[in-house]
Amino acid sequence: MSWLMQTYNRCDVVFVQGAGLKLYTATGEIYWDYLSGIGVNNLGHCHPAVVNAVKEQAGKLLHVSNLYRIAQQEALAEELAAISGLDRVFFCNSGAEANEAMIKLARRYQREVRGEDRFEVITALNSFHGRTYGALAATGQPKYQRGFEPLGAGFKYVPYNDLAALEEAISPQTALVLLEPVQGEGGIYPATREYLEGVSRLCREHGVLLGLDEVQTGVGRCGSFYAYQRMGIRPDLVSSAKALAGGLPIGALLATAEVAQGFVPGTHASTFGGGPLVTAAALAVVRIVKQQEFLEEVEKIGGYLEAAILAAAGDDIVELRRLGLMLGIQFGPAVEVKQLNQALFNKEKILANALANNTLRLLPPLIATEADCDRFAEALARQIKDLKEGQV
Ligand SMILES: Cc1ncc(COP(=O)(O)O)c(C=O)c1O
Repeated sequence: MSWLMQTYNRCDVVFVQGAGLKLYTATGEIYWDYLSGIGVNNLGHCHPAVVNAVKEQAGKLLHVSNLYRIAQQEALAEELAAISGLDRVFFCNSGAEANEAMIKLARRYQREVRGEDRFEVITALNSFHGRTYGALAATGQPKYQRGFEPLGAGFKYVPYNDLAALEEAISPQTALVLLEPVQGEGGIYPATREYLEGVSRLCREHGVLLGLDEVQTGVGRCGSFYAYQRMGIRPDLVSSAKALAGGLPIGALLATAEVAQGFVPGTHASTFGGGPLVTAAALAVVRIVKQQEFLEEVEKIGGYLEAAILAAAGDDIVELRRLGLMLGIQFGPAVEVKQLNQALFNKEKILANALANNTLRLLPPLIATEADCDRFAEALARQIKDLKEGQV
């Protein structure tokens, strides 16, 4: 009997402590985290820089309202602006909220600043943007929307990586195109560089804003601070969350100064957004992850992990899709990924994630070493073998 609502299928384990990739149960069992709390613990569990920043800030000031200046919030906004090349930041508490803010800002900018009646938001089929009503309407997967209708109006969906389909969908009412640089929940599908360059060009030509959802791809995950920085484009809007505060809840919407004019006092707000505790933690994260050597190592370890997995299990893999340390390993019908994921958890004490398209998702902490990659590849090979021999 549980008093919790049935929103998750939880594994029957309680973790009481964490360090790096390791998670400990109360009885001292060690599990290995290759999912980082679904892309949150990018610096591993309890990174000392984050823990110390939180400890120090917690003893000084936990909350003060956004009616007053917040020094840590201002410093974080400055860091994010310098990193991203965007100019203004709005802070909230989650990825869905950051996307809500993006949709609201895009519509209000188009109407109130540009004086154009543009409200339509075009997103991709198979996308994931969050669970609130606006973010859910933006999510191009009916399975998440079923039963919650009516959703907000003004959303259109197009196939991902299909420029012609996007061109056809853009209308004089289009305010925003919102895309993930790599579709995460949808199965780990990276956008091609040509597609994003084409999308960027189409948006400019048609007076449409380009927004990127970097909630899962951001904060070093893909080998650059934000994934778009590897893809040769400059968006008008970027949503960020998950790993940004190293394990504390945060969301951020980044925008150009031009587009940010769409918000004026009273048009959007968040009680907790950008509070001193989370922004102190985020400053510690950002100052580590923005370092060029750190980001180069992410790409290097990502390549090592890919090679190790292919060497260990290549024959069973249909496709391995990867950007930095965001990996999707798609298997053929001989390997059922839900079963494989369960076996990895039960028998190897490894945390990964099974996606709907028979793809195993890995989002290891960005501090993972070659030994961590080898451990995973060996465990994967063992469990695939057992699974095929019917020993699970
Ligand atoms: C790309 C993307 N956008 C938005 C969200 C929603 O973020 P949150 O759960 O913090 O609201 C997620 C969460 O998985 C995500 O992967």
